[in-house]
Amino acid sequence: MNIVAIVGSTRQDSYNYKIAKHMEKRYADRFNLKILNIGDLPFYNQDKENTPSQEVTAFKKKVEDADGVLWVTPEYNATIPGALKNAIDWLSRVDQVMIGKPSWIMGASMGALGTAKAQAHLRDILFAPGLSSPLLPGNEVCIGQVHTKLDEDGNLADEDTIAFLDTVTDNVIPWIENQRTTAKI
Ligand code: FNR
Repeated sequence: MNIVAIVGSTRQDSYNYKIAKHMEKRYADRFNLKILNIGDLPFYNQDKENTPSQEVTAFKKKVEDADGVLWVTPEYNATIPGALKNAIDWLSRVDQVMIGKPSWIMGASMGALGTAKAQAHLRDILFAPGLSSPLLPGNEVCIGQVHTKLDEDGNLADEDTIAFLDTVTDNVIPWIENQRTTAKI
């Protein structure tokens, strides 16, 4: 199974990127996770949506080819970062590659709520007509106090969080597989 991860942070030492790397490494035998770069995407412009840049075309193709999308996002001012919304706006137009494609959401912050507000907005956005991406209810991954949960090399080291991610993965992966099978019939 091929999943793409879209990380909402473009920061070099992003905690959310580190969570995505954990997902890539820990479940390498369950699914292939490719982490996409949204930092090079131009600002969405409706005048250019039918003739987008090579970065946009390649980004959309990678999402189109994936069986599901793992969103790993920070919270900026109680919502998702603008860079992430920009990427989503590109995905929502013309070929609308997200329609019917399963989404899986998680996020990390240094605060207590672990991006809960941003995730609520992201879920709402993903239900917009141009995206119409199904989500498995429950299985919300809000990683608070993330700076206390990494080892000195930046690997996720908190046993409770690792175990919780194991449980969520056990729930979500069969669901994505099932979505794929159903869509092909
Ligand atoms: C933040 N941060 C933040 N944290 C939070 O829990 N709720 C919030 O509303 C905000 N707002 C916010 C706005 C802006 C502009 C910045 C730069 C930061 C803090 C944020 O969680 C922290 O910087 C994370 O480390 C960002 O995620 P990455 O880059 O580490 O993945």
